[in-house]
Amino acid sequence: MTHEAEPTTPNSGRMLDYWLGGQHHYPVDLAGAKVFEALLPDFPRMFRVLRDFIGRTSRYIHAQGVDQFLVLGAGVPTQGNVHEVVPGARVLYTDIDAFNIALGQRILAGVPNTGYTHCDAADPTTLDMAVAERVLGPLRRLGIIMIGVEAFIADEPLRAALQKLYDLAPPGSYLAVDCDNAALDHDPELLRMMGTDFHMRTAEQLAASLGPWQLTEEGIQPVAVWGHPGTPVDIRPYMIGGVARKP
Ligand SMILES: C[S@@+](CC[C@H](N)C(=O)[O-])C[C@H]1O[C@@H](n2cnc3c(N)ncnc32)[C@H](O)[C@@H]1O
Repeated sequence: MTHEAEPTTPNSGRMLDYWLGGQHHYPVDLAGAKVFEALLPDFPRMFRVLRDFIGRTSRYIHAQGVDQFLVLGAGVPTQGNVHEVVPGARVLYTDIDAFNIALGQRILAGVPNTGYTHCDAADPTTLDMAVAERVLGPLRRLGIIMIGVEAFIADEPLRAALQKLYDLAPPGSYLAVDCDNAALDHDPELLRMMGTDFHMRTAEQLAASLGPWQLTEEGIQPVAVWGHPGTPVDIRPYMIGGVARKP
């Protein structure tokens, strides 16, 4: 991949692209991914399971009649991401990483009804509403996909962000969420590498952060299990998640 400037630090969204077999990452991401993988060889499977969870939650929300999606902490918009699993829907991807935004805009150039812009998931008021209206059209019921990003947000900003999203979303909107949970405790060296700004949560803590959002029937489950129609992948429940609704 060629780009005038290259990032000097790895990004989890682009490491994920490598683990999912994509082509949209830089040497620094590959090097970072190799370090993580050496500690926990399950990383590629773990993130395939998470991407499939994005697929099942997006299709579930679409099946409720929602055709506009806002994706927070989106990473790289390929490999089974939202617009690929709900063709025809309007999808706005967002992230805080400038390289991911530029990559995303290149990947989506010419893909109708999609866009990629900046939004800090810890403060959704940073979303450029003019871009949102251009890509999504006038806001109707919204599917908000906030998956793979909660670990980077502390408890109080997360609670406030989910409340702001609730206020922004028209009634009948849906929110898909997840969090990393204590299964990673089995790997203390890995946790040390994640640093002090990495936030793991229990199902109860994730549910509490939802505020007025109402969890759907399936509740919060390991992401491999949620909405899975058959036999889920047999993997340690590193991540848990679910879907909630604004009545
Ligand atoms: C682990 S990746 C998840 C990518 C994708 N959502 C998925 O699950 O496949 C986390 C992404 O969140 C982004 N990110 C981290 N903190 C963020 C924040 N406060 N707001 C928006 N994006 C953020 C990172 O740049 C990265 O692209």
